[in-house]
Amino acid sequence: MGAKVVAVFACQSCGATSPKWLGRCPECGEWNSFAEEMRGPASRPAAGPSARALSIAEIEAEERPRLTTGLEGFDRVLGGGLVPGSVVLVGGEPGIGKSTLLLQAASGVAARQRDVLYAGAEESAPQVRLRGGRLGIRDERLFVLAETDVARIIAEAEARLPAVLVVDSVQAVREPSLASAPGTVSQVRAAASELTRFAKSRAIPVLLVGHVTKDGSLAGPKSLEHLVDAVVSVDGDRGSARRLLRATKNRFGPVDEIALYEMGNGGLRELPDASATLLAERRPGLPGSAVTAAREGTRSVLVEIQALAGVASAGSPRRVGIGVDSGRLALLLAVLEGAGLPLSAREVFVSCTGGIEVTEPAADLAIVAALASSARGRALPDGAVFFGEIGLLGEVRRVPAASTRLKEASALGFRTVFLPGGNAEEAAAFPDLAARPVHRVADLLSEIARAAR
Ligand code: TYD
Ligand code: MG
Repeated sequence: MGAKVVAVFACQSCGATSPKWLGRCPECGEWNSFAEEMRGPASRPAAGPSARALSIAEIEAEERPRLTTGLEGFDRVLGGGLVPGSVVLVGGEPGIGKSTLLLQAASGVAARQRDVLYAGAEESAPQVRLRGGRLGIRDERLFVLAETDVARIIAEAEARLPAVLVVDSVQAVREPSLASAPGTVSQVRAAASELTRFAKSRAIPVLLVGHVTKDGSLAGPKSLEHLVDAVVSVDGDRGSARRLLRATKNRFGPVDEIALYEMGNGGLRELPDASATLLAERRPGLPGSAVTAAREGTRSVLVEIQALAGVASAGSPRRVGIGVDSGRLALLLAVLEGAGLPLSAREVFVSCTGGIEVTEPAADLAIVAALASSARGRALPDGAVFFGEIGLLGEVRRVPAASTRLKEASALGFRTVFLPGGNAEEAAAFPDLAARPVHRVADLLSEIARAAR
């Protein structure tokens, strides 16, 4: 036999390979990302029954029920629970709460009288048990396996055929036939594709934990995103107990659905009312604060946008957007300039509070309102919500899902809504909200100046 092991260079950022070292990855443009890895020969697909294409009409629609994890928010982010045979990557910074989330989800499945296999390669079985104790988890049907070898994890899963397989983490397991170290892109990909094959062949959902850092230094899981069916990210500030779950990719459900959790002594607990929580720390009456109704999956969430138009500075002033798109921020500043509010010499900071990111253009109107409010030192009208996309010419354009946004604003007791003229009709269904349709940014500026008096 004499399987030949060859050295290749693989980009640790995107997984591209090259027979020689390259300073810059031709695929993703990353510098110094190539590392040498040893690879065995590509394995041939196992010989199975020969394939035969079916007419789409003769394929039976296979609508297998989804599996609920018992964590309502997590299920919702997944699109209504786990799809049989799907592979879900749960990514996030180390220490953010991925293991806690998946242990709680595993327990939720086990509590419904189904076996779960929790294969941990990062912690010993007693450590997992200890964490479980802290979470009040003692399910008899939750099986823990401390193992790094993917083949052995799959062998155990084949023997037990659990309802769900959790692998924590994909960086800590390894495919022993590969010579490279655990955590390298080729190891992470090999392990993930073995586990994917298992998931598909047995119709068992597999949850993979992947550590991802903001600076991209742990980039292995990034290279899995196209391989898995769904990617759920766990985000949050170190200093805060709040955790945001969001699907950034989902073959079987909507993306951008969110769930808000709080990390406490008993693990993660869902905060049922995301909007109310995100607005709870807001102090109305301060200049520079505007509320927008953002679309998150099938729902809308009210979030506060804060702006600070600082002192004029010599040289080129800073423009910083946190949780908002910086390209859009630059565009909005240019539009404001055109509408008679010059900010070009001033430092500008815009942030979206609560660690949420609002990148959709519908937040434009709130960003502009917050900027104008800060620049003029006058608070925006109390109980007002702003949404609308702004075009290059200062026109306020219609946005999708206006009814969903209006419903959320109305439910949270807001009284006034500044919205695109093109969405005014949808506001008629909400008599408790006074609609202020705006057609141009200049109109908004004069309206809020008048309202603030
Ligand atoms: P963990 O799930 O281990 O993070 P990850 O798997 O993403 O690396 O979470 C670790 C943090 O969560 C740690 O700082 C302790 C904290 N924690 C709680 O606050 N309450 C709990 O009940 C548990 C289990 C953990
Ligand atoms: Mg962990």
